[in-house]
Amino acid sequence: MRRGTLPALGFGLSALLVAATLAAPPAPPAQLLYPLAGTVRKPGAVRVMLATPRGAPMPAAVWDGKPLRLSRMAFDPGWTAPAPLQRTSDLLGDRTTMERWLSAPAATVGKHTLKAGGRSVVLTVNAAGAARGLAQAAAHGKPASAACSGCHAVANGSLGDAATPGACAACHNDAAVQTIHKHVTEPLRRCAMCHDPHEAVRPKLLCAPKEKLCSRCHALGHSKG
Ligand code: HEC
Ligand code: HEC
Ligand code: HEC
Ligand code: HEC
Repeated sequence: MRRGTLPALGFGLSALLVAATLAAPPAPPAQLLYPLAGTVRKPGAVRVMLATPRGAPMPAAVWDGKPLRLSRMAFDPGWTAPAPLQRTSDLLGDRTTMERWLSAPAATVGKHTLKAGGRSVVLTVNAAGAARGLAQAAAHGKPASAACSGCHAVANGSLGDAATPGACAACHNDAAVQTIHKHVTEPLRRCAMCHDPHEAVRPKLLCAPKEKLCSRCHALGHSKG
């Protein structure tokens, strides 16, 4: 009996799956970029950023059990040329085919859960912004981070380039950059190779361990790099 029913059941299931696929195509995958999972931070707005393929509907996001409204941020068509080295982090997708969705829910002291992009991310919020065993999340401070336009060109709701070093130069000029890094500034123009101003867990917003950052250009063991 059992032997006979199994293939029939299998067939029934696949027929059902095909029917479901025809009725409603699966939503394109969304990728949760920020906030970084398992981190601790101070109370305040949390930057939520998801990426979806262009033209996709609003991805689902649930903050502490309630649906979170996301707003679409398209990229300025002038800022879509692929520039792999200038990506702020390996987390961020491709500007040419992807767009971003944003929200900024207020996080009070305690634990918060964000479900989005197929992931469930737990954040801890306390007044100190620090806790044993948890990575401390920080974004670039004000005034630059008061709005995206602190660093990016923003026009008609679409996000343009944060062309470095120009986008930083009003506050971190060439001389300052040289003093900070004790390094000729020309090779460091792409600040986002090493710093992620949106959110990072390392001191000075570094997006990877220092050795790794230097060894992109300097062979290990060579010079100070
Ligand atoms: C303190 C400066 C700063 C602020 C504030 C800032 N950004 Fe950025 N952002 C950058 C830099 C630098 C880059 C990298 C630009 C490059 O390398 O060409 C970048 C890149 C990006 C990218 C593209 C990354 C990629 O790999 O494709 C997105 C998306 C982005 N920012 C979104 C935002 C949004 C949305 C806001 C506001 C909520 C914001 N940024 C605020 C500095 C900033
Ligand atoms: C409007 C002025 C302003 C702009 C524009 C600006 N910054 Fe800053 N930045 C500051 C100030 C002020 C501080 C120090 C205070 C702070 O950390 O809040 C700072 C701190 C930093 C730090 C150290 C953070 C830390 O945790 O110690 C880094 C790294 C940094 N900026 C990188 C950048 C980069 C890269 C850009 C351009 C994409 C940029 N900043 C644009 C004003 C600015
Ligand atoms: C090759 C990686 C790399 C690049 C590229 C880079 N930085 Fe840094 N930056 C660092 C490191 C590493 C530190 C920490 C320095 C230290 O503590 O010794 C740092 C520190 C800083 C600080 C913090 C200074 C302080 O002590 O508070 C600022 C501001 C900063 N960088 C701005 C910039 C800007 C602006 C650019 C682009 C023009 C840039 N950086 C490009 C690696 C880099
Ligand atoms: C984007 C590529 C790039 C990155 C990343 C980079 N450097 Fe460099 N670095 C250079 C270049 C190019 C020179 C040579 C500049 C010249 O001689 O005009 C240089 C020179 C140096 C020198 C001086 C060497 C000498 O012979 O005088 C030191 C030291 C150094 N880098 C250390 C570092 C450290 C430490 C880091 C990581 C924080 C780093 N570099 C990251 C490209 C890079």
